Amino acid sequence: MTPETKPANPNFSSGPCAKRPGYDLATLDTSTLGRSHRAAIGKAALQKAIDDTKSILGLPADYRVGIVPASDTGAMEMAMWNLLGERPVDICAWESFGKEWLTDITKQLKLADTRTFVAEYGELPDFSQTNPTHDIVFTWNGTTSGVKVNNADWIADDRDGLTICDATSAVFAMPMPWEKLDVITFSWQKVLGGEGAHGVIVLSPKAVARLESYQPAWPLPKIFRLTSNQKLIEGIFEGATINTPSMLCVADYQDALDWVVSIGGLDAAIQRSEDNLAVLSDFVEKNEWIDFLASDPTTRSNTSACFTLKLKPDEVKALIKLLEQHQVAFDIGAYRDAPAGLRIWCGSTVETADLKALLPWLEWAYQQVAQ
Ligand SMILES: Cc1ncc(COP(=O)(O)O)c(C=O)c1O
Repeated sequence: MTPETKPANPNFSSGPCAKRPGYDLATLDTSTLGRSHRAAIGKAALQKAIDDTKSILGLPADYRVGIVPASDTGAMEMAMWNLLGERPVDICAWESFGKEWLTDITKQLKLADTRTFVAEYGELPDFSQTNPTHDIVFTWNGTTSGVKVNNADWIADDRDGLTICDATSAVFAMPMPWEKLDVITFSWQKVLGGEGAHGVIVLSPKAVARLESYQPAWPLPKIFRLTSNQKLIEGIFEGATINTPSMLCVADYQDALDWVVSIGGLDAAIQRSEDNLAVLSDFVEKNEWIDFLASDPTTRSNTSACFTLKLKPDEVKALIKLLEQHQVAFDIGAYRDAPAGLRIWCGSTVETADLKALLPWLEWAYQQVAQ
C-alpha cells in the first residue's frame, strides 16, 4: 500500500533549492526590468539587496558585501585569484566543492607553497593543523557530503593570514562566526531558494587591506577585478556591479530576503532548518537501513542532509526513481562524485510538514526495492 499523503511540495533539491513557501513569481517587484542597472532605480535595487543582506545576517559594520558574476563559483574564484599567492596557503577539503578549490589553487594558480588537509566523505579534516600565519581556504558546509564545520575555535582571532570560506549552503541557515572569516561567498539559489546567476562576496577589512597592498603575479580578467590602481573599487559594494546583472534575479533575491524578515529574521530561518533536520534525525534513529553520511552527529549538515542506505547502488537508483514517479521527491540522489545514497535539502524554504510527509514514502520505497 502506498502512503496516503504526498508532500505538498516535493522539491528537495540541494540547489537550486525549493522556493520559499507561498512564492509567486507574479508578486515580484519587476519595476527595474527593462531599465539600465546603472540607472538610479537599478542601482537602488542592488544597494537595497546589499543592505538587507548585511542587516539580516548581522554582518560587522565594516564588512563589505558585493554582488558579482558567476554564482558562488565566481565569487570564490574571484577571491582566490585576487588574494592568494602573498603567503602560504592551507586548503581544507572534505567533499567535491572543497576539492575543486584545491584543484584551482594547486593546478590552475599552481601555487607551490600549499598544504592540503583532505578528509573522506563523511569526515572533517583536522583543522587544528592549520597555521594562522597562512591563508586558509575551506568550505563551511560540504553540500555533497552533508558535513559542516561545527565550530570556529581553530581559527585564531589574531591570525595574520586570511580565512577564505565558501559558505554557499550555510549562509542564512547556520550561525556564522563573521569575525573569524575574512572572505565569505554564497549564491542565491541555495539556502533562500533564489534564482541562480550571481554570487555574493563578503570581505573583512583585512581582506580589503590585502587587496590594496598585494598584486598577484598573474593576469586578472576584468570580470574578476576588485581593485583599480591598487584601490578597492568601492562601487562594486554599493550596487555598481562589474558587469550587467539580471535584475529579475535581483528582484527574486529581494523577495527571498523579505520573506526571511517576514518569518522573524535569521534566527527563525535557522530554526526552521534545524527543525527539518530533527525530523530526519528522528527517522534515522528509528530505521536501521538508513544512516547519515556524517560520522559525527555534531557535524551533520542542517541543510544538505546526506544519507547512506543499506541498498546496492542500483537499488538506491530505483528508490529515487520510484519516489520521482510518484511525484513525492525530486532531485534527492547523492551528488555524482559522492558515495551512493540520498541527499535531502533541509533548508528553511522546505516545510517541515513536507519532510514529514516524505518519510512514509521513503520507507515504502525502501521496502519496494530492497532485495
Ligand atoms: C559548497 C559549494 N560550493 C560551490 C558550489 C557551486 O555553486 P554555484 O553553482 O553557485 O557556483 C556549490 C553548489 O552546489 C556548493 O555546494
